[in-house]
Amino acid sequence: MKKLVVLISGNGSNLQSILDACASGRINGSVAAVFSNKASAYGLTRAREAQVPAHALAASDFADREAFDRQMMQEIDAYAPDLVVLAGYMRILSPAFVARYQHRLLNIHPSLLPKYPGLNTHRQALENGDAEHGTSVHFVTDELDGGPIVLQAKVPVFAGDSEEEIVARVQHQEHAIYPLAIGWFLTGRLTMRDNRAWLDGEPLPPQGYAAE
Ligand code: GAR
Repeated sequence: MKKLVVLISGNGSNLQSILDACASGRINGSVAAVFSNKASAYGLTRAREAQVPAHALAASDFADREAFDRQMMQEIDAYAPDLVVLAGYMRILSPAFVARYQHRLLNIHPSLLPKYPGLNTHRQALENGDAEHGTSVHFVTDELDGGPIVLQAKVPVFAGDSEEEIVARVQHQEHAIYPLAIGWFLTGRLTMRDNRAWLDGEPLPPQGYAAE
């Protein structure tokens, strides 16, 4: 059975979709452990309820980012994961962390990358009057939110939408596409090579897999 380690910082709704997909067999693998940089993250409760080991590390206990990530890597490696999944993990990764898990490190980012890397993506989409917004699953590289895109989902933005409505619409899509991409990886269909994402031996286009 292939193993995932999931990193979170908050609610963990994406983690829940991954746990559910493992339980239903949609993902052919299991979540070996969940780590958070916030002890109060509700996702840790979700993990424990699914009988998954849940760990929190506090940045304030470490001298710097490198020391925090060294401890994180040591604890992650104890589970020997096939894939490390960032699911709302709101902490910049050190280059050593990215190098340690390169080619087996996925993130989900709430925008149609390369648009809106970084924070406050929903607000930016609203303020700019975008007609569409969305979310992207991508491999992680040293460039913030800049690694090869695997899959995107678009959502419409309607006049008068609140930020909460857009978040809900985007997250609904995230809960579908992240388990799909993770499933592809664990069955060997999805790989990263030559700084590109490949599906079934074919390089994916810059915007990732398109159903159309
Ligand atoms: C998700 O929408 C994810 O795309 C976003 O945080 C949310 C976490 O929600 N990630 C980032 O912004 C990463 N830069 P969740 O805790 O309910 O899964």
